[in-house]
Amino acid sequence: FMAGLQTRLLDTGSTSSGRGKPPIYILYGSQTGNAEGLAATAASHAKQHGLEPIVKALDEVELEDFATMRRVLIVTSTYGEGEMPDNAQLFWEALSSEHAERLEDMSFGVLAIGDTGYDGFCEAGKKLDTRLEQLGAKRLLARVDCDVDYEEPATAWIEAAMPLFAAVEGGPDEVAASPAAAADTSPPAASAYNRKNPYISTLAVNRRLSGQGSGKEIRHYEFDLGDSGIHYEAGDALNVVPENNPELVSLILQRLNAKPDAAVAKHDRPLVDLLTRGFEISTPSRELIAAVEQRAGNEELTRLVQSGDKAALEHWLWGKDILDLLQLNPSMSLSVDEFLSLLKPLQHRAYSISSSSLASPDRIHLTVASVRYVSGGRQRGGVCSTFLADRVKEGGQAGIFLSTNKSFRVPADKNAPVIMVGPGTGIAPFRAFLQERRESAAPGRNWLFFGDQTRAHDFIYEDELTEMMKHGVLNRLDLAFSRDQAEKIYVQTRMRENGKELYAWLQEGGYFYVCGDASRMAKDVDQALHDVVAEHGGLDAEGAAAYVNQLKREKRYLRDVY
Ligand code: 2AM
Repeated sequence: FMAGLQTRLLDTGSTSSGRGKPPIYILYGSQTGNAEGLAATAASHAKQHGLEPIVKALDEVELEDFATMRRVLIVTSTYGEGEMPDNAQLFWEALSSEHAERLEDMSFGVLAIGDTGYDGFCEAGKKLDTRLEQLGAKRLLARVDCDVDYEEPATAWIEAAMPLFAAVEGGPDEVAASPAAAADTSPPAASAYNRKNPYISTLAVNRRLSGQGSGKEIRHYEFDLGDSGIHYEAGDALNVVPENNPELVSLILQRLNAKPDAAVAKHDRPLVDLLTRGFEISTPSRELIAAVEQRAGNEELTRLVQSGDKAALEHWLWGKDILDLLQLNPSMSLSVDEFLSLLKPLQHRAYSISSSSLASPDRIHLTVASVRYVSGGRQRGGVCSTFLADRVKEGGQAGIFLSTNKSFRVPADKNAPVIMVGPGTGIAPFRAFLQERRESAAPGRNWLFFGDQTRAHDFIYEDELTEMMKHGVLNRLDLAFSRDQAEKIYVQTRMRENGKELYAWLQEGGYFYVCGDASRMAKDVDQALHDVVAEHGGLDAEGAAAYVNQLKREKRYLRDVY
């Protein structure tokens, strides 16, 4: 358990070279890199206030070291429906235990980011904030809970927080910043492009990967980076700024009895433009549901809302979009202004990049499943996946910008073995990783578990993977096609079958990566990993859990799951 020990030695300042500036610990819990990016922003603000920022993932911190920290800024996202992000789970387990130490000397602030579209909005931040107070730490300023448009409120909060942290008593002597930790604090590579100012990229390739007979439509896209100067790394995500389906826009215009070019109060764009590029018009917001419940006189909806049975309401809403709600009662009247005030701003969608910049410096590749279904007699689809598939033709344009994810990278050690589990579109970052390992001539072995419904239709990138096997870039490829035989075979089935070797790779310092469906696949793969470690490591359940936790601490068990 060397990693934990190293952290402790660095943090207690035994390598310190005399008096320095007062340290502020900026600890993040991040799933996709947004909170990690904010931690870097906070670090640069801290420096401007004469503080020495030390940036770490929450899981890199041992609780006994944590108890010695005087200034702690926690920035965390929330994962799933109110859970801690992957790299904060171990920390939270320790902090929430009844044996956790008192934190009387600590001053802290929590910056939470989340998505009001989910239950458990900013729950991870709320839990940490409450727990620190329970343990006697002093809250310097109220927590801020930011929605998906987090940049402005988060930056404002950081600016308000820093003078308060700078005023906290306590010198650098007790806990001095180590040179190694301080080196961690460089801000993220500045990119000129962001959500407010996306790069308008030309789509060079838009082609179907899955066969026509597949139950799914998976497509390959290539965005031209032109003279943008965007530099990306394998493991990063690309944000795409979508436009809404014009057919849905015109149905909503009809229902509102409004003209496309109608001028709208408080907006400088015509209505059709607002509905196409300004707001989410598919998934109803909580505000819209509440307003429709009040006015539509729909007994079923009213009964569901009043019962407080969230699951039943969720079930009823499933497959219904904003137009369905408006059509519950055709005589319900809603002015354009009222309607717009109940909508959320149109969000960009993030996709794991499926290319390496070493192989493809001028283009970013994506591998995306088109979401399509029929409901209530109307053809529907995912906002961004159908925008890409149907409306941005090759040669067409779309706004893009990068999300760096420093936590999800190929190992710095080129000799380390790599195990990747990525069924379906979960293969995306691993195609990038394999290209990266090939182009950098990394000698370490690579093992991919891939699968989907059928081999005949869903074996995407088969040619490339075969080629990589032939050239020894990919050393093992285990396939799990679930519907090619009577019994279900999944990636975790293959992991168990090859458990002995899988365990041997881990023992040789292997990295274990998972990408794809979070609700079922990633949970089952996690269980399979525990079982493999228990069986082949001769451990009981507790021992296996400790082994897997250690992999997490050493950042050798990394997930990009959604
Ligand atoms: P299925 O739909 O045939 O059951 C991509 O969607 C692949 O993931 C499909 O082959 C799908 O199989 C499979 N899948 C479904 N549930 C899974 C689970 N719990 N773990 C792993 N793979 C799963």
